[in-house]
Amino acid sequence: MQYRYLGRSGLMVSRVCLGTMAFGMKDWGCNQDVATKMVGKFVEGGGNFIDTADIYSTGVSEEMVGKAIEGHNRDALVIATKVWFRMNPAPTARGLSRKHIMEAADASLRRLGTDYIDLYQVHGYDYFTPLDETMRALDDLVRAGKVRYLGCSNYYAWQIVKANAIADQAQLTRFVSGQHMYNLVRRDIEREILPACADQGMSMLSWSPLASGFLSGRYKRDEALPEGSRISFRKNIDIPRYFNDTGFALVDAVKVVADETGKTPSQVALAWLLHDRRVAAVLIGPRHVEHMEENLVVGDWNLTDEQHEQLSNIVTFPHGYPLDWIDLSWPNIAGGEEFEPPHYRHVRDRR
Ligand SMILES: NC(=O)c1ccc[n+]([C@@H]2O[C@H](COP(=O)([O-])OP(=O)(O)OC[C@H]3O[C@@H](n4cnc5c(N)ncnc54)[C@H](OP(=O)(O)O)[C@@H]3O)[C@@H](O)[C@H]2O)c1
Repeated sequence: MQYRYLGRSGLMVSRVCLGTMAFGMKDWGCNQDVATKMVGKFVEGGGNFIDTADIYSTGVSEEMVGKAIEGHNRDALVIATKVWFRMNPAPTARGLSRKHIMEAADASLRRLGTDYIDLYQVHGYDYFTPLDETMRALDDLVRAGKVRYLGCSNYYAWQIVKANAIADQAQLTRFVSGQHMYNLVRRDIEREILPACADQGMSMLSWSPLASGFLSGRYKRDEALPEGSRISFRKNIDIPRYFNDTGFALVDAVKVVADETGKTPSQVALAWLLHDRRVAAVLIGPRHVEHMEENLVVGDWNLTDEQHEQLSNIVTFPHGYPLDWIDLSWPNIAGGEEFEPPHYRHVRDRR
């Protein structure tokens, strides 16, 4: 297993993170026995990073993670959870108000059976609570020793930058990571969010790295969805996201690289994400020990630059405006330097 620093922090995480959205999930999830075995094998394989959220099966996932880590060295693990979703019918039991953040963090600590959360992430943007209220409440959790690091999820680039600017101004704790949907089929975050995170010294944690299992090659054009498959239970979410000509062309391309390398399509799709050092970890979401072990292989297996390039270029990913304007105008701002200045990588990644 290889480890990466989480953003501009001293926290080292395994580059495969065990996502636990399936823990306790009816239909496409797993029970405690499987979850405990999965965590055991994950840790045995060098994994230290586990992601959950209060909303996953309304607290059940956190409870199952808590039970599964019993007997493991807590301090050797990096436990991440999230706040934002509505947890009960009370009007206050949602979002990122100071009140809800404080209550939600205590409830997560109780369910996880631990006295600190390593990475506390806001699960989405709260359009009704001022960001300074949210950042102050999150910082208070850090100062109280209940939380070690902060991250955000599903934020736009401007929200990320604004949140960290507020934190800087008030000397509060900044976000060190973003957690966003990122896989070969859905590369939306490459336009603004990934460059914003790099600029802010934040890492990306990629959720749905296999596009809900679509990139495993299990689903075929014009064929019924395999019975019991994850997507068969989430048709309304995953079919519009992934089932299109681009998606199937990418599955075919992933299979070619899988054949060339002797790896599985899932391993190739995960390794494509980890080729980008802005991505600290892929958040795998298995519900069987076998899938977990298959995914864990990318902890220390890499695509070559050529294989990565080949997959990146199967489908033209349109960055659109303003990148096309910047490219046209680039000679006006660049050229004549003896060597690339150290901060150039930011500029290159932004382009
Ligand atoms: N922040 C957010 O808003 C957000 C949103 C979603 C997820 N997440 C996090 O990201 C984690 C992963 O997301 P995800 O579950 O969508 O990830 P994913 O890896 O894209 O999808 C998981 C599904 O892929 C299939 N699969 C997994 N490994 C496989 C393998 N080796 N071969 C073939 N199929 C395989 C399984 O489907 P079958 O059961 O059909 O076999 C599994 O249910 C979650 O657990 C959660 O921690 C965060």
